[in-house]
Amino acid sequence: MDFPLITSCSCRSTVLRILLFLSLHLPVFALTGAIPQQEARRISLNSGWRFQRSTSTPDNLSYSKLKQWILPSANNFIVDSTKHARRPADQPDNVTISQPSFDDSSWEKLNLPHDWAVKGPFYTASNAVIGGGMGRLPIQGVGWYRRNFSANTADKAKSVYLDIDGAMSYAMVWLNGNLVGGWPYGYASFRLDLTPYLSVGDNTLAIRLDNTVDSSRFYPGAGIYRNVWLTKVSTTHVGQTGTWISCKQVSNQSATLDLVVQVENAANGGVRAEVDVTTDVHIFDSGTGKAGEKVAQFPSAAVALEAGKRQSVNSSVTVQKPRLWGPRPAQEPNLYIAITRLRIGGQVIDTFETRFGIRSLQYGNDGLRINGQRVYLQGVNQHHDLGSLGAAFSIEAAERQLSMLQDMGCNAVRTSHNPPAPELLDLADQMGVLILNEIFDTWKSQKVRNDFHLIFNDWYEADLRAFLRRDRNHPSVVIWSYGNEVAEQGGGKSGADTAQRLEDIVREEDPTRQTTVGMNSASADSAFSSVVDLIGLNYQGEGRTGSTGSFPSFRSKFPNKMIFSTESASAISTRGTYLFPVTNGSSSAVKDGQGGDSKAMYVSAYELYAVDWGASADKVFVSQDRASYVAGEFVWTGWDYLGEPTPYNSARSSYFGIIDLAGFPKDRFYLYQSRWNPTVRTAHILPHWNWPDRVGQVTPVHVFSSGDEAELFLNGVSQGRQKKDQSTYRFRWDKVTYQPGELQVTTYKAGAIWANATVRTTGQATQLKLSTYRERTVIRADGSDLSFISVAVTDDKGNVVPQASGTITFSIQGPGTIVATDNGDPTDMAPFPSKDRKAFAGLALAIVRANADTTGTITVKATSTGLQAAELILEIA
Ligand code: GAL
Repeated sequence: MDFPLITSCSCRSTVLRILLFLSLHLPVFALTGAIPQQEARRISLNSGWRFQRSTSTPDNLSYSKLKQWILPSANNFIVDSTKHARRPADQPDNVTISQPSFDDSSWEKLNLPHDWAVKGPFYTASNAVIGGGMGRLPIQGVGWYRRNFSANTADKAKSVYLDIDGAMSYAMVWLNGNLVGGWPYGYASFRLDLTPYLSVGDNTLAIRLDNTVDSSRFYPGAGIYRNVWLTKVSTTHVGQTGTWISCKQVSNQSATLDLVVQVENAANGGVRAEVDVTTDVHIFDSGTGKAGEKVAQFPSAAVALEAGKRQSVNSSVTVQKPRLWGPRPAQEPNLYIAITRLRIGGQVIDTFETRFGIRSLQYGNDGLRINGQRVYLQGVNQHHDLGSLGAAFSIEAAERQLSMLQDMGCNAVRTSHNPPAPELLDLADQMGVLILNEIFDTWKSQKVRNDFHLIFNDWYEADLRAFLRRDRNHPSVVIWSYGNEVAEQGGGKSGADTAQRLEDIVREEDPTRQTTVGMNSASADSAFSSVVDLIGLNYQGEGRTGSTGSFPSFRSKFPNKMIFSTESASAISTRGTYLFPVTNGSSSAVKDGQGGDSKAMYVSAYELYAVDWGASADKVFVSQDRASYVAGEFVWTGWDYLGEPTPYNSARSSYFGIIDLAGFPKDRFYLYQSRWNPTVRTAHILPHWNWPDRVGQVTPVHVFSSGDEAELFLNGVSQGRQKKDQSTYRFRWDKVTYQPGELQVTTYKAGAIWANATVRTTGQATQLKLSTYRERTVIRADGSDLSFISVAVTDDKGNVVPQASGTITFSIQGPGTIVATDNGDPTDMAPFPSKDRKAFAGLALAIVRANADTTGTITVKATSTGLQAAELILEIA
């Protein structure tokens, strides 16, 4: 076996996952990824914005008109300085909306993160301007954001930067009427230097965004949908890309850390700076969210910097008996924090903190090893939207997504197909989730007419380097992907050349990790497949329904490369919806009468159906088990997402998720849990057992279990005992004749009883039941914390009535807001902020936020005609 040993470490994170649940009373920083010292460098600019959107061009501006002023924002990320864009000497023509004197008092008041499209309404026409692919939500148009902030004379002597974690898209920023710069790619995080335009007193920021139709294959979101920061530092400071810590010779006994600190002297007026650089390494104390015991100190360095220059300072140190970072559940995600101090004349002038982890990575021809232990990739793809919250980032929503995936046994996420919010990586670091970090869905050739291909040539280098420098400290990031199903796969030499250019950039910025591209059509013999380090295959590896797949051909061409599925399955289903007849096979392409109902736009939840380029989970498992060298998979997808409602384009959201858009697990969840998390005593029966129209008809019953044998009983009568063989992943009784009553399954493992499950024909719906995610009934009044409240329609005995679909009305008393409601039904066109939401398969969800700076309690009430209402009290902490 050939295992090139490659190690790496890394960055910003907060408290360990467990603390997220136990620490409901912790100060805000514990959940937000911010930490006190770092906070002193940067303050949140999320509150107090004015906003206006227009579907016409209200200002006669466009990216192409102002491009000369925008391109220089990329210069720090373009290595060849002869290619740097020169900023025109003058400002562009006066832009009224950017002027401090402009009256925005009639504009909407709001706080960030903000997605202007998510409130809807959904476009329902078949020829809508934004169709199913992009989620039928009004992302298009020009959005302006304005807010003031004040600066004092001390600030005027500093460097002042605006850090935007993500703005969709074509951002352009003015300060006090001066165009500062911008960044077109809506998924990028970027920094702009406000210093030259800063005034003592009031300052007016104005940000213009512009979203075109046909700019994405899925829902992109719209607006400043991630956090925004104002960073104020001494003119000599740790630069934007901060520090880079990598590790080598990692073992339980010791590890060597290599540190690069980027020091910048941005002083105007030619002041040379003599700077001492020191960095201490501490254990990151998960109990307090602060630096704990100091374990090492990098040798200090002195650097003399002329004004306007930046320089990297390198040093190394060995840590004894390191507490290694690794993915859960096999390992522990231990973190460290490095505290870098810059001193001039003995005075500390800047302090910069880097949270990181120590671990080794080996990419072998039989899989991925972390700290020497093989970790099979049990991964999922995730788009960046958070369902009914849209693209507006919420750390609570992201944590809910990751932790439900972890419960299923998922240990890895591919950020399909673009850079995630920085806090998503902080969560992954602290929760022990592996990340395949991906940047592009298109290169030079378009997938849709207004996508990234329009700006690829101007921006690919800056976007790629900025992404790598931002994220390379995170220990959770184990693979870089610089593309997904790009058309260049089939482009012969020229496609391979583009790939090589991107590959070279990754190598320059991070020699410690390997790369991939999701390849759906490149063959093993193509020039393209030879460029990437790791063979990442979309569907072709395991093969679509009825085919054997291309794992063997890639294996024989690349016997020493790691091979895995960057996308697998693309199975589709609608939670709680079972259609008959049920296919006899283990995987079928969906069509009417075969798992699909194009009129109702539902796909059967028997979990045997897929798109015709994909396959069911069961079929994928067979292929993987036959190719034991395969390193694992990233299922398409973990959660449903907005847009791409294949196979029914008139719907609003996807059918691919293992978990639906509202966060309710589909049956498939238990199929994956049975395989991925086999120590959980899973036994899950499908379908539900309320079929008044099917009495006497054949109604197949399937069971997902981590047991190896199972016996099913209908009203106490055995339907047979079955054993799983090597290529079956479910128990199926396909000849059960429906009669109301009780289905009960007993599963066994190695002959002993393992897990039981029961499904009953329920009585009439009589009442509503409310519950909170993880039974968390405390909410912080920080203006961002969210409570996820589920409502179930039940009978007298508390059984969820599986076909209940009546309208539920949510209301609230106390200082809170119902931000969104949902039910996971991809065809439901009620706007997300609606307080009325139909139950879908017996369930619905309301998301509640406490108003900032309030105390007391919030009472959430759910009512529905003819049903007993329910109330739940949230305590504001
Ligand atoms: C893939 C693509 C994904 C998604 C998926 C749906 O080809 O990479 O973005 O579209 O198909 O099956």
